[in-house]
Amino acid sequence: MKKPKTYYITTPIYYSSGSLHIGHCYTTVICDAIARFKRMDGYDVFYLTGSDEHGQKVQQKAEAAGVTPKEYVDRLYAQIVELWKTLGISYDKFIRTTDDYHEKAVQKVYEKLLKSGDLYKSEYEGWYCTPCESFWTESQLVDGKCPDCGREVKLQKEESYFFRLSKYQDRLIKFYEENPEFISPKSRMNEMINNFIKPGLKDLCVSRTTFDWGVKLPFDSKHVAYVWIDALTNYITALGYLQDDSSLYDKFWPADLHMVGKEIVRFHTIIWPALLMALDLPLPKKVYGHGWVLFGNDKMSKSKGNIVDPIFLSNRYGADVLRYFLLREIPFGSDGNYNNEALLTRTNADLVNDLGNLVSRTTAMVTQYFGGTIPAPNEYNELDKELIELCESTLNKVRTDIDNLSAPDALADIFKIIQRANKYIDETMPWTLYKQGDTNRLATVMYVLCECIRFSATLLLPFIPTTANTIFAKLGIPAPTNFSKLKKFGGIGKKVKVTKGENLFNRIDIPKELAELDRIAAEQAKPAPKAEEKPANEPISIDDFKKVQLCTAKVISCEKVEKSDKLLVFKLQVGNEIRQVVSGIAEHYSPEYMIGKTVVLVSNLKPAKIRGVDSNGMILCASDGKSVVFVTPEKEIGSGMEVR
Ligand code: ME8
Repeated sequence: MKKPKTYYITTPIYYSSGSLHIGHCYTTVICDAIARFKRMDGYDVFYLTGSDEHGQKVQQKAEAAGVTPKEYVDRLYAQIVELWKTLGISYDKFIRTTDDYHEKAVQKVYEKLLKSGDLYKSEYEGWYCTPCESFWTESQLVDGKCPDCGREVKLQKEESYFFRLSKYQDRLIKFYEENPEFISPKSRMNEMINNFIKPGLKDLCVSRTTFDWGVKLPFDSKHVAYVWIDALTNYITALGYLQDDSSLYDKFWPADLHMVGKEIVRFHTIIWPALLMALDLPLPKKVYGHGWVLFGNDKMSKSKGNIVDPIFLSNRYGADVLRYFLLREIPFGSDGNYNNEALLTRTNADLVNDLGNLVSRTTAMVTQYFGGTIPAPNEYNELDKELIELCESTLNKVRTDIDNLSAPDALADIFKIIQRANKYIDETMPWTLYKQGDTNRLATVMYVLCECIRFSATLLLPFIPTTANTIFAKLGIPAPTNFSKLKKFGGIGKKVKVTKGENLFNRIDIPKELAELDRIAAEQAKPAPKAEEKPANEPISIDDFKKVQLCTAKVISCEKVEKSDKLLVFKLQVGNEIRQVVSGIAEHYSPEYMIGKTVVLVSNLKPAKIRGVDSNGMILCASDGKSVVFVTPEKEIGSGMEVR
């Protein structure tokens, strides 16, 4: 048997220094759609994602939050994994740069570089941007600030190890010339050559001594690895490079595609290939630099306060609505805008009107005219043949679109079947055929429509998997795992029974929904009450205090409250009793993170209904007005213990 071709695709590993927004989801969702498509197209796929957990920024944030860096990144890791679960991301491996195997392999990489003479010790002075973890020369600064993020930089001098990047300048240019597809889109290749390589590559400072949250260099433990070397090597350490079992590395390296945002193309197309050259390893086949999801023409970022919360959107509309929007709306390679109106308009136009309507009309007609069983077709006429030809030719078009990494084109091509089929209903007027008693023709029309749905749903599986699976359930056939049944029209067999069921998507009243979203945003933007606005701190007697019953409780389950982005509902073990408590900490903790934790409960609070959910007590938290942390006993102690 022929061995399947392999396909190795990666997202960047995400910084564990803040929560992820839809800009991050963009990269991950695109890679997910490509990975799913390639799997269905017969490739043996390895899809890697992960989290970038070292560096000064993480250390500073952890200090500010009063936790250890490891505790800090563990919390973010839980949030990232939860987000990918919500969005149905089908990665094969999640790497954390704090994983032991990765840290050890990074150390070995540094040892190799030292041995080969590509690493040497010297002193570095430069302008350092902490948020970007990047050093800049004076001339690279823009108005004295970081050219990437526009924030303050500070002059930093330190003893450092240097990687001989300059040595690889000519080999890099030659590699680009011989592999014109390596950097895509092409414009980014010119940008790299003109802005970075031609002015001359300088050796790169690849160790730090000013903080210690990183991989310690094995031969000089005051130094930690530069976070970008640590991060970039994830693409090979995840496969077992320099480890006992390197079978995945042997199978999948070099990567077929590193998908990255445009601002980090230079790390992936200059530093990364030079490092691989120094290690004498093959280079990745392609680095694609996609554009940004903008919000009011500004890149979304936590510090700018313009982030759009993907969990909120997924909970409100369904993950596929967000996936579809990101894949369809943002022109690939360029920047695209996010706004609520565009999301809702796209949803109504494509998912409700086109796809939802086709499925509900067809299943309703098969139910009404044929008792729910898809009839066998009779002779096809010219009109039918046009649809058949469209269905049979679409896989190839979508395959080309995916090879060009253009999800919007792929979806536009799939939707051509859906739109054509909707028009076919109007042209064939099945209701008239039914009235006329032309059962033969009616059967053919129904069969053609169901086949159009089967073709489009198969092709939609990589893009909106939940919806596509629901369509197969409605059609009464199992969802396929590959495209083999798309070669020929006529794949639906005998006695297949459809179910109409609920609509795939409900039409959104856009003006009303926009007003509601504005209201929610305004509510969230309300500043936390200032300490002085609270009632005067009058002393209370010990008897007053005794009225409040406090005890320890263990979280045995925790879930988000539906349609709320603030509330979590807990099941707490309190001694022998199980209590349900609602707490407004969803923006600060993921349900996964909370499970197993011990909290302090106000156990004699009057029961209340919060958003329709019963709550019996309150979980104690501390807050500085922005972040919220729950209170927990200093040592392990059972549940139901009195707190005084
Ligand atoms: O750069 N629109 O991590 P990161 C589109 N740890 N893409 C966006 C975006 C937006 N508004 N905001 C961020 C890092 N991204 C490093 C990577 S890889 C060895 C190390 C994209 O969390 C961004 O372009 O800042 C990048 O590709 C990815 O999210 C991770 O960004």
